[in-house]
Amino acid sequence: LSTGKARAAGRAAPIGVFDSGVGGLSVLAALRALLPDEDYVYLGDTARLPYGTKSAQSVVRYSLQCAAALAARDIRCLVVACNTASACSLPALRERHPHLPVIGVIEPGAQAAVAASSSQRIAVIGTEGTIQGGAYQAAIARLQPGAKVRALACSLFVALAEEGWTEGEIPEAIARRYLGQLFGDARRAPDTLVLGCTHFPALLGPIRAVLPAATQIVDSAGTTAAAVRAQLTPSKAGAPGRLSLLATDGAARFARVGSRFLGETLSAERVELVDLHQSA
Ligand code: DGL
Repeated sequence: LSTGKARAAGRAAPIGVFDSGVGGLSVLAALRALLPDEDYVYLGDTARLPYGTKSAQSVVRYSLQCAAALAARDIRCLVVACNTASACSLPALRERHPHLPVIGVIEPGAQAAVAASSSQRIAVIGTEGTIQGGAYQAAIARLQPGAKVRALACSLFVALAEEGWTEGEIPEAIARRYLGQLFGDARRAPDTLVLGCTHFPALLGPIRAVLPAATQIVDSAGTTAAAVRAQLTPSKAGAPGRLSLLATDGAARFARVGSRFLGETLSAERVELVDLHQSA
């Protein structure tokens, strides 16, 4: 549906959401739960996934291309539903699109962590790019200057989530190996873990299984949706919003793997392939 037609039908312009692939669909699910009347355009840059192992310069370039493709669809707000892209691209996106509200997932994730933690010992896991860039550590320190933050890249979790290996002994063994590094010393163990990658909520079961029972586990999806709601005048459509799905490669895989992240069955026919080189 073109924006012109959308406006003619009395609907507000859509909310644009992008991620390196399907992980951001978990953020989209939270957005749709909180703001069900809005229209959404979701773009997964599946041709270039993963972002988490790329340099910041490349991720900024990819993010600008994703934003340009969504801006061409006349969105009224941009949600960067990827921690890696949020960690390094927000200033460039805001400079390139000064009239578009741009909302990332790191600040909302940091808010969720600070609210959940009583000891202010907080652990953050994410991709290599997110953790090395230090964006979570900085965001938590801004909100709670005394907080002790320990951060670790857990790159294999992205592949496990994409593969659908989200239960059983293999993901649990990997979770134990990674998280033992953060929670191994019981006297100094964090009381809160931030899932700082949109893929990681898919692995909640194995992660919870290897952590001390009282550990709070938070992610950015709900708080990001709340941040979007705070920015926007709600659509008055009074009817369920529409969802357009775009990907840069592999419509069938996007639909198959993405269904798990969105919590709804998607068909490949619903996914439009786009070429971002024409949008930058
Ligand atoms: N969805 C990305 C994030 O939240 C992780 C996947 C990737 O490495 O592209 O950081």
